[in-house]
Amino acid sequence: MGKIIAVANQKGGVGKTTTAINLAAGLSYFNQKVLLVDFDPQGNTTQGVGTPRENIKFSIYNVLMENHTINDAKLKLTHPPLTLVPATIDLAGADLEMAEYKVGRERLLKNKLDVIKAEYDYIIIDCPPSLGLLNTNALTAADSVLIPVQCEYYALEGLTQLLSTIRLVQRLFNDKLIIEGILLTMFDARTKLSLEVQQEVRKYFKERVYRSFIPRNVKLSEAPSRGQSIFEYDVRSEGAKAYAALAKEVMTANPKEV
Ligand SMILES: Nc1ncnc2c1ncn2[C@@H]1O[C@H](COP(=O)(O)OP(=O)(O)O)[C@@H](O)[C@H]1O
Ligand SMILES: [Mg+2]
Repeated sequence: MGKIIAVANQKGGVGKTTTAINLAAGLSYFNQKVLLVDFDPQGNTTQGVGTPRENIKFSIYNVLMENHTINDAKLKLTHPPLTLVPATIDLAGADLEMAEYKVGRERLLKNKLDVIKAEYDYIIIDCPPSLGLLNTNALTAADSVLIPVQCEYYALEGLTQLLSTIRLVQRLFNDKLIIEGILLTMFDARTKLSLEVQQEVRKYFKERVYRSFIPRNVKLSEAPSRGQSIFEYDVRSEGAKAYAALAKEVMTANPKEV
C-alpha cells in the first residue's frame, strides 16, 4: 500500500516545492513508484518538472471539484520516472467553493486518492502556503506530513500554528496522521545563523528532524527554470546529493507520532 506524504508549511518560500519535486524524483530513481500531486494553485511543481500547459487536459482542480479521477488528470514523465497530477490557477477558487459544502469538504482529496493509493509506493503532495481547506484536504488525505523548515531567523515562528492545525486534523478527520519528519532547508554552513537554527530546531523536535539536511545550493534554484529535477539538471551537485540522502532516509525511516 502506498504512503501519502504531505509536504506542508503555511509559510511561503521555505522549500516545499523544491522538496516535493526532488524527494519525489529521488524516490523514483530508487525504483519507487511515485505519484507527485501539485496541490498549490501557483502550479510551481507542475512548471518545475517542465509540463507544457497544452499537455494538461485535466488538473487537480477538476479531480477535486468535479467528477474526474486522478487517472484522468495524471501525466507520465520519463525524467524523472514518475507520475504527476498537475495544478493550474483554477485551484485558487477551490477553497471558497469547498467552503460552501456543508459535509465532506475536508475529505474530497482523500476520496480521490484512496482509489489509486495501492498503485504507488509513495504519493507526495506539494501543499499551498496557507492553512485553509486545501491544506486540510491534504492533511486529511495524508498518512504523514513532512515539514520543511528554512534555516533563517524566524524559522520556528508559525510552526506552533502548523502543529496545532495538524492536531486538529488528527482529532477531527484523520487520527492516523503522523509527522514524517522535519527537514532543514537552505542550510548555509558558513553562517552562524544556520548553525543556530539547526541546533534550536533539533533541540525542540529532537529525533523528528531528519539527519539529512538540504544546503543552500544555487543548482536547486536553477533546475525548475529548465523544467528539471536536480537529478537531471546536475546530479553531481550538493543539492542532488542531499535530496538523494533524504529519499534514502524516507525509505528507511520510522516516522514519529506528533
Ligand atoms: N536548498 C535551496 N538552495 C537554494 N535555493 C533554494 C533551495 N530550496 C529552495 N530554493 C529556492 O527558494 C525559493 C523558494 O523555494 P520553494 O521550494 O518554491 O518554496 P515553497 O514551495 O515553500 O514556497 C525558490 O526560488 C527555490 O528555487
Ligand atoms: Mg511552493
